[in-house]
Amino acid sequence: MSYNLLKGKRGIIFGALDHNSIAWKTAERVHDEGGTFVLSNAPVAMRMGEIDKLAKKTGSTVIAADATSVEDLDHLISESMKILGGKLDFVLHSIGMSINVRKGRHYTDQKYDWTQKGTDVSAMSFHKVMQTLYKADAMNEWGSIVALTYMAAQRVFPDYNDMADNKAFLESIARSFGYFFGKDKKVRVNTISQSPTPTTAGSGVKGFDGFINYAERMSPLGNATALDCANYTVTLFSDLTKRVTLQNLYNDGGFSNMGVSDSVMDSITK
Ligand SMILES: NC(=O)c1ccc[n+]([C@@H]2O[C@H](COP(=O)([O-])OP(=O)(O)OC[C@H]3O[C@@H](n4cnc5c(N)ncnc54)[C@H](O)[C@@H]3O)[C@@H](O)[C@H]2O)c1
Repeated sequence: MSYNLLKGKRGIIFGALDHNSIAWKTAERVHDEGGTFVLSNAPVAMRMGEIDKLAKKTGSTVIAADATSVEDLDHLISESMKILGGKLDFVLHSIGMSINVRKGRHYTDQKYDWTQKGTDVSAMSFHKVMQTLYKADAMNEWGSIVALTYMAAQRVFPDYNDMADNKAFLESIARSFGYFFGKDKKVRVNTISQSPTPTTAGSGVKGFDGFINYAERMSPLGNATALDCANYTVTLFSDLTKRVTLQNLYNDGGFSNMGVSDSVMDSITK
């Protein structure tokens, strides 16, 4: 199904690592809806070579950028405007990484240089992306910027570790920068809080299988898939959501408003 919702719109999509990535599905859906874009990822992620397949399929150019480097972002944004032939209408920040999570370091025993690296990659990079776009005046009026988050920013999920704090920071940046982007440039900024999703970043969280099964059983509509997230993002990039901004929007099958479900009750009642 496609509705040409993004016909004539141009943008940048960060974070497509492989075909499971939420950014990968989003790139495919944005392409279906008529949008054109540059794909970007960290130089190390490029070595896998997967992103070239997506670029070919969607007629996109790939530009490597470490999202923690303002120099890389400057280059990416100016080159993207040249390649796409004008200012941008949409940007997806689909970037996250915690070394403490990856190395199984407990929340109460963090290695702080790892924590700092994770915060820079997962949260501060969103500020860097937006500040670079803002200073370059790279966004068209009524453009839309989206970042992906998880509800461990609001509630405790012990194994989500320092990523919970990174997501809280990310969501705050969306609101704070969203104010200035709205007032000064008529650009909206939102975060989508997505269900657990089997991707490289998602599966890295300890006990991910339990995590995803629990969420599935708690959510009246079941977990939102990567494709569901891609579809929601398309609506936020489209002109149908022009005055939705500063929001953290749950794409989670209803999980965030549940207390307990029959299915979970049945499994714990003797
Ligand atoms: N998978 C889930 O369960 C889930 C749930 C909610 C939110 N999210 C969020 O969705 C986003 C996308 O993750 P995903 O699940 O598709 O996993 P993924 O592993 O496919 O994507 C993460 C991406 O971040 C990129 N990245 C890491 N360091 C970078 C850097 N320095 N510069 C640029 N890019 C860098 C990786 O190369 C990768 O492409 C993340 O923000 C993640 O936290 C995921």
